[in-house]
Amino acid sequence: MTSYETILTETRGRVGWITLNRPEALNALNSQVMHDVVTAAEAFDADEGIGAIVVTGSERAFAAGADIKEMSDKTGLDMLMGDHFGAWGRFAAVRTPVIAAVSGYALGGGCELAMMCDIILAADTAQFGQPEINLAVIPGMGGTQRLIRAVGYYKAAELVLTGRTMPAEEAERAGLVSRVVPAAELLDEAGKVADTIASKSLPSVFAAKAALDAAMETSLAEGLRFERQAFASLFDTADQKEGMAAFREKRKPDFTGR
Ligand code: CAA
Repeated sequence: MTSYETILTETRGRVGWITLNRPEALNALNSQVMHDVVTAAEAFDADEGIGAIVVTGSERAFAAGADIKEMSDKTGLDMLMGDHFGAWGRFAAVRTPVIAAVSGYALGGGCELAMMCDIILAADTAQFGQPEINLAVIPGMGGTQRLIRAVGYYKAAELVLTGRTMPAEEAERAGLVSRVVPAAELLDEAGKVADTIASKSLPSVFAAKAALDAAMETSLAEGLRFERQAFASLFDTADQKEGMAAFREKRKPDFTGR
């Protein structure tokens, strides 16, 4: 397995794990982290043996944001021409479902990285926020767009405009987090959710993620058209025949990803 400078990777069964590993900077997301996370996620995505990915950080921090020290001296033109956060789009585009297992700080780019994932599980210690306004900037990795879609305009506006951090329970009530669990159980829970997803038929999982993504990005009519097409296309897989036969025969399906 490739080794990376700023992350640890591991395969457990059919699940690929990415652990952010810059403890000295609370996992701040510099260019190297972006490169490493994107490369690892794309490698897992290209591997038929992987059915789900977990991204996590440390107990203290999922990620405390984009790396302020790396950015502080840049000009607007540097940020624009360097397309400073551009590669994160490739992470958001992986077809394999990604679970963010968040403990501690998920601030700025850290909250935005979690929101690029499909499911956010939070430890009861997690804190979410977009504090960029305190630095005289704004979210730059999707925060203004994805937070609104997650929690609605008014809550997102309050968080983005004040820079207030919200605790895990509030994030769950707001719909950003699917479940809050005791910190000691976070990785086990994330592993269980990932194993469950990875046990399904891969073409149906890819189709489900693509249809969910379409709901975020298109009109209802377009999204419904996409869903109908994707639904129909799955009837050409052997796994669909197996899944429905297993139901009728009252047994567990044996999926092959074909
Ligand atoms: N960038 C670079 N370094 C960071 C960092 C960041 N975002 N967050 C923390 N660090 C570093 C600190 O500088 C410190 O390093 P040194 O010991 O070398 O000084 C180390 O991590 C530990 O941090 P603290 O001593 O500050 O730890 P704390 O427990 O006192 O505070 C914290 C924790 C409240 C998270 C605080 O570190 C903090 O406010 N961090 C910045 C949060 C932030 O503003 N995030 C948004 C960044 S901009 C962004 O993300 C733009 C975007 O949309 C993409």
